[in-house]
Amino acid sequence: MIRKAVLPVAGLGTRMLPATKAVPKEMLCLINKPVIQYIVEEAVASGIRDLIFVVSRGKEAILDHFDFSPELEAELEERGKKALLDEVRRVSGLVENLSAVRQKKALGLGHAILVAAPLVGDEPFAVLLGDDIVEAEEPCLRQLIRAAEELRAPVIGVERLPREEVHRYGVIDGEPLREGLYRINDVVEKPRPEEAPSELAIIGRYVFFPEIFTYLEKIPPGAGGEIQLTDALAAMIRDGKEVYALELKGVRYDTGNPEGFVKATVALALKDPELGPKIRKFLSDLL
Ligand code: G1P
Repeated sequence: MIRKAVLPVAGLGTRMLPATKAVPKEMLCLINKPVIQYIVEEAVASGIRDLIFVVSRGKEAILDHFDFSPELEAELEERGKKALLDEVRRVSGLVENLSAVRQKKALGLGHAILVAAPLVGDEPFAVLLGDDIVEAEEPCLRQLIRAAEELRAPVIGVERLPREEVHRYGVIDGEPLREGLYRINDVVEKPRPEEAPSELAIIGRYVFFPEIFTYLEKIPPGAGGEIQLTDALAAMIRDGKEVYALELKGVRYDTGNPEGFVKATVALALKDPELGPKIRKFLSDLL
């Protein structure tokens, strides 16, 4: 059973500046929920009970969002705002065990995961990155957990993208095993389009076994002087370890840049039962 997840949320969010000057990018709001809530809801719906946030200075709002807010609750109760009170309490109760660890220096995604090692301990765990939200019938992380439990090996979420887009991602070289499942032969971080080994890009969902920490501890800093998760994975694969990639079923939005953020907002608004018809009319009038 995989019940722990690490959520690295220490990044600066430079692609969304100036919005992210004083507000963590994870707290930017899609409709009426911060981005991080969509990700936490996916984790919880996938069976995760212990969430470990890897934070940096100024990210306290993320932790507060998933904690109780007694003053607000008392106020809503007094004013008889039952529906809002229920929703606020639901969010506070989403995460059974909430912990946080500080990444004191911005030394990369691999380093962020490594600082969570003492809290993860000796068991398999998931990693969810804060920019990608995925709409799927079966929660995206649940799809990966099922595969990892069956294969008893790490599984990484991938998506087939147009070749000109893969340079923004880690890209795998994989051998197809069955529909949507690959055994990974190599992985390259942010390759040039002509050098990309495939069009299968790593999106922000992973299931790891504690062995990954051994590799994160020993790899040297890579691109940008940062400890790259992709380099640790590549080292593991070179040692002959099995690592798999699963093409995720669902629609993903990268909310970490203005274009993706607006697309996610519009798509979610159109799907919302109450807002949908109004926004559809608004958009068609506008166009
Ligand atoms: C990170 C990973 C990359 C992955 C991407 C998914 O990159 O290093 O392999 O494809 O997340 O969002 P970042 O977006 O932090 O530059």
